[in-house]
Amino acid sequence: MERNEFLKICGGTCLGLIGMSALLQSCSPAYYAQASVTGKQAQISKQEFEKIKKGEISYRKFVLLKVADLNYPVIVNRFDENTYSALLLKCTHQGNTLAVSGNILTCSAHGSEFDRHGNVLQGPAAEKLTLFPVTTDEKFIYIQFS
Ligand code: FES
Repeated sequence: MERNEFLKICGGTCLGLIGMSALLQSCSPAYYAQASVTGKQAQISKQEFEKIKKGEISYRKFVLLKVADLNYPVIVNRFDENTYSALLLKCTHQGNTLAVSGNILTCSAHGSEFDRHGNVLQGPAAEKLTLFPVTTDEKFIYIQFS
């Protein structure tokens, strides 16, 4: 086997393994956070985003919430320690429930895609997702459902 051929095969194998790793991470089950809902406000501890493994803390990019008054789950995204967003997982095209796939929210009905800020990446949906106001303090995240 020629050196160039060997390097091509090794490079392709490495890219395949990296792609498989990313795919497996995106397939991990979504985490539903515990929230205290009072009236039209939910309160979530920032600790709901923590994952502790072998003494090391890492952070989930998002958690999901079930809110009794809403017919769709809510995704609460963590961008950094003090920056969060909360979006209704309802496709703005015809109302299908969205799925989370890595950093993209996808609709299996007709293929629309949204980013974690709710912006449309791919139609047929044309409108941004419903975004709920979020505030934080040192320990908690507060989401206002209007
Ligand atoms: S309902 Fe989501 S793309 Fe049509």
